[in-house]
Amino acid sequence: MKVYKSVRSLTKKVFEIKKCNKAIGFVPTMGFLHDGHRSLIRKARQDTDCVIVSIFVNPVQFGPKEDFKKYPRGLKKDLEICKKEGVDIVFTPEPKDMYPESYATYINVERVTDMLCGESRPGHFRGVATVVTKFFNITMPDIAYFGQKDAQQAIVIKKIAEDLNMSVKIKVMPIVREKDGLAMSSRNIYLSKEGRIQAQSIYTSLKIAKELFNKGELDSRKIINRIKQAINKQPEARIDYIKVVDTKDLKDVKKISNEALVAMAVWIGETRLIDNIVLKTGS
Ligand code: PAJ
Repeated sequence: MKVYKSVRSLTKKVFEIKKCNKAIGFVPTMGFLHDGHRSLIRKARQDTDCVIVSIFVNPVQFGPKEDFKKYPRGLKKDLEICKKEGVDIVFTPEPKDMYPESYATYINVERVTDMLCGESRPGHFRGVATVVTKFFNITMPDIAYFGQKDAQQAIVIKKIAEDLNMSVKIKVMPIVREKDGLAMSSRNIYLSKEGRIQAQSIYTSLKIAKELFNKGELDSRKIINRIKQAINKQPEARIDYIKVVDTKDLKDVKKISNEALVAMAVWIGETRLIDNIVLKTGS
């Protein structure tokens, strides 16, 4: 495994790999790796000849009042995990290499960024779209891997690849959860002992939604109210949003016909957590 710290050196290496006709699998991350990240890396390892993982806490996707500075970092352990998973290349650029002072270009994806996390975190997807586009240009992947945990992010990235005629294939992998159901996230480390227990209500409420739907409830408002009830029982929980939306364009769905995405963001104390579940008839 080799670690590249500069755009220039990795670009050179990628050209060599391409010359050998090797398929490149790319997994972008912000580090502090957990089993959710590992599942993407494993899939990339299975599918492709050369696995590139980026570890970069992207300043551009954090709002001025958000947690960029305190976002958990642990490069040493991350590199050990990458090595164990058979990663070929880890890319850990410096912010000034990605965004020099003269930097001026941003990617703006319309419509699918208007709602959910796009509404609560203005500018977030502009930052994600920009950094991922830059990474795609640097790593030239055949396949890039994203998690369903960030369902809206995956949709935004697919839109970029399609709209900008990129040849990269986007694969979206299922949500990996802790034993008690909490979706794995680098931010879970922020939770207090009590907060960690209360955070279980997020997945519990999504399971209640699924049960309701499986019993025939198609009215989004009723499903959302039931989720709200479960979350509001937790003293430290504050709902950012709970929505039932179309799985492709993320527009609100009033009555579920075939399938829908139930997506939510909840503050547990000072920690904002997101999770989702797809409701589908016959599953
Ligand atoms: P990060 O939060 O580190 O996540 C990196 C990738 O891991 C994302 O595709 C995310 O959806 C996936 N992931 C995170 N938790 C997961 C879980 N519990 N199960 C399955 N997959 C999971 O998402 C980002 O970083 C950044 O926005 C990034 C795309 C790297 C751009 O900066």
